[in-house]
This record gives sequence, C-alpha cells and structure tokens, in this order.
Amino acid sequence: MKFFVLFFSFLVIFIPLQSTAQDFDSGKKVYRKCKACHTIASGAKHRVGPNLYKVIDRKAGSAKGYRYSKSMKSSEIIWNKENLSLYLINPRKFIKGTKMAFAGLKKETDITNVIYYINEMSKKE
Ligand code: HEC
Repeated sequence: MKFFVLFFSFLVIFIPLQSTAQDFDSGKKVYRKCKACHTIASGAKHRVGPNLYKVIDRKAGSAKGYRYSKSMKSSEIIWNKENLSLYLINPRKFIKGTKMAFAGLKKETDITNVIYYINEMSKKE
C-alpha cells in the first residue's frame, strides 16, 4: 500500500514537471519558424516583424518603433492566448491585410508550445 501511495505521488509530481520542460523545448523548435522575422529577447531590435518580448496580453500593433500595417494597428485586439492561437493558425484570415507573410501553424500542439515558449521567454529580464 505504501508503495502505491509513493508511486502515485511520484507520478503526480513528476509528470507535470516533465511536460513543461518538453513544452519549452518543443516551443523553441517551433519558434525557429518565427526567428527569420522576429526577435524575442528584451530590448532586441525589430526585424521584418516586431520584437515579441512580452507580446502576450499586449495590445496588437503597440511595440514602440515598429511600423505595423494599418489593419494590425486598428485591430483593437489584445494578444491573449486565444487570439494568439487564432492568429497563428491563419494570420491573414484572423487579421485581413496583415503584412505578416506566414502561412500559419497547422498543429494545435505547435501553437500551444510556441505560445508557452514566448510566455516563458518574456519572464526573462
Ligand atoms: C516572414 C516573416 C514572419 C514570420 C516567419 C513570422 N512573422 Fe509574425 N509578424 C511579421 C510581421 C511583418 C508582423 C507585423 C504584421 C502587421 O503589421 O500587420 C508580424 C506580427 C506578429 C505578431 C503581432 C505583434 C504585435 O506587436 O502586435 C505576432 C504575435 C507574431 N507576428 C507572431 C509570430 C509567431 C509566433 C511566428 C512563428 C510561428 C511568426 N510571427 C512568424 C512577420 C513574420
């Protein structure tokens, strides 16, 4: 009996820890697709696209010093996780006229993981 209690506590504690590490690494891999156009480090320069540091829960089109499309600027969207997912599935469908030339991510797990990665990276100074 004691053995089972220990065993299950182990599962309960260990599995979530492991899955977050996996999400981060998988997210980092997915993020390679974004890297050509985006930086993520605090204070890093804008590239073709704006710097994504702390983009989550920020108003769309609000990074200083970046020239957004009119559609993005006037979208009135807040980048919560739900909106971010919808955008990443199909950017041009979610914001008509966006100048982000990216086809979109097909797999739901890729989207979840890349958002997780962006969120974790935004906690760094
Ligand atoms: C080919 C270049 C390119 C790629 C690849 C790309 N983006 Fe973008 N991204 C842009 C551009 C350009 C904009 C600005 C869009 C506008 O103003 O309409 C943008 C805007 C964004 C925004 C809105 C930012 C804000 O400040 O409102 C987010 C979030 C974003 N991209 C996330 C991603 C993620 C995540 C990936 C990878 C899965 C990715 N992008 C891949 C070019 C790219």
